[in-house]
Amino acid sequence: MKKVPHNLRLVGQNIYLRPITIDDTELVLKWRNSKKVVENFIYRQPVTRQDHIKWLENKVDKGLVYQFIVCDLDSDMPVGVVYLQNFEEENKKAESGIFLGEVYGKGIGTQAYKLLLDYAFNELGMHKVVARVLAGNTASVRLHEKSGYKQEAYLRDELFLDGKYEDLILFGAINNDGKDK
Ligand SMILES: CC(C)(COP(=O)(O)OP(=O)(O)OC[C@H]1O[C@@H](n2cnc3c(N)ncnc32)[C@H](O)[C@@H]1OP(=O)(O)O)[C@@H](O)C(=O)NCCC(=O)NCCS
Repeated sequence: MKKVPHNLRLVGQNIYLRPITIDDTELVLKWRNSKKVVENFIYRQPVTRQDHIKWLENKVDKGLVYQFIVCDLDSDMPVGVVYLQNFEEENKKAESGIFLGEVYGKGIGTQAYKLLLDYAFNELGMHKVVARVLAGNTASVRLHEKSGYKQEAYLRDELFLDGKYEDLILFGAINNDGKDK
């Protein structure tokens, strides 16, 4: 995939997305390692500074992951992270992900995800964006439904996390709802 121009801004109603930089490291690590995020993610080991720098160098800088910081439009304050990864160029497919910092339930996630999907479909030419969501993560299930994803599979007891089995939902969003077949 091509690299994201560093000055790219994807602007919504109250927020905008900008490419992640090395200067976001401390904040992103704090958010990613917070209880709220860890308990809703499949990968639960603490992410170290070194892991994150490697991720930036090996994935983001090489255009294998498109990662954006969600910022408040008025104050420019960073409030969360969204990303596209696991690109399959032949299938025009990618996987999306999101986590917010401190402000939840105020519509930020929905706005950020809509901007991300719009970018994936209309700028990157993706046909399909998929996501994996733990079934008990009600906010994320609603977020995906509201952003145009449809449930494609419900996998019972798919993962064994922190001593218990968890159900996993596979979501998929298709550009133009499949009309460009
Ligand atoms: C999931 C997440 C990104 C959602 O972002 P958000 O800004 O909090 O969500 P929104 O305010 O846009 O709300 C989206 C929907 O979820 C609902 N929702 C939000 N928080 C909720 C909660 N704690 N419980 C139940 N529903 C909730 C909202 O009511 C809304 O649905 P509605 O319009 O039908 O009312 C955010 O909560 C988060 O970062 N969670 C931790 C990390 C995570 O779970 N990432 C996703 C992993 S797959």
